[in-house]
Amino acid sequence: MLLTRQSRALQRSGDAYWKRARDTYHAPPEFYAERERALREILGPLGEIGLAIDVGCGDGRYSRVIAEYAELVQGFDISPSLISRARAAGSAGNVEFSVGTVAEIASSGMADLVTCMGVTSCIVDPVTFDQSLSLLRRLLKPSGSLLMIDTLSTGSDMHRAYRSGYVARYRARSSYERAIQCGGLEIVREMDMAMFGGGLVNRMYLLRKHASHSAQQLDAAG
Ligand SMILES: C[S@@+](CC[C@H](N)C(=O)[O-])C[C@H]1O[C@@H](n2cnc3c(N)ncnc32)[C@H](O)[C@@H]1O
Repeated sequence: MLLTRQSRALQRSGDAYWKRARDTYHAPPEFYAERERALREILGPLGEIGLAIDVGCGDGRYSRVIAEYAELVQGFDISPSLISRARAAGSAGNVEFSVGTVAEIASSGMADLVTCMGVTSCIVDPVTFDQSLSLLRRLLKPSGSLLMIDTLSTGSDMHRAYRSGYVARYRARSSYERAIQCGGLEIVREMDMAMFGGGLVNRMYLLRKHASHSAQQLDAAG
């Protein structure tokens, strides 16, 4: 377990990396095409989607896919240059892009769908990760769905810190799923999206608010 001061410093480095990022595509094109295919397969049966919030939307590629299934999509990203690219790419008119972190999104309890794809492995600090899960949950309507895609470790937690400033925490699948449950969320559907070398797997989770008493308490607490 990283010391708090170390993990906060790593988090600042990672946030600074993403704030100046212009590109998010570090994997082969097939990886992103498969994500789009899986996204469409999940969105189709979800029924009516009023507001969808795409957290960490990057250049908006998937926000534009989600917009085919939703009345309105709000895409947020920590990186001003990625948001500029997202705006420049144009869309059907029902997508809005804003610079903002997970913690800065204000639409509490209004979203039918929240997507957070490839983002929480960039949130290396454990306290910020738990807070982020709770903030994502808070954006949802009671019947809303949260779609998370992340790279996880098939063994124990792994950290990566590169000279570029990019940092990642690949959480053990068991600790990731425990955090989901402790955060008042339950798994509706899950699937492996891609296997990487070195004991890493990219996984998708479709979640909803847990209907238990403790989850209601979380709602009451906001
Ligand atoms: C690996 S990219 C994924 C982009 C896109 N969601 C996708 O699936 O291709 C991670 C994205 O999360 C953004 N990001 C990282 N930390 C964030 C935070 N705390 N709040 C909002 N966005 C963040 C980055 O700027 C980057 O666009």
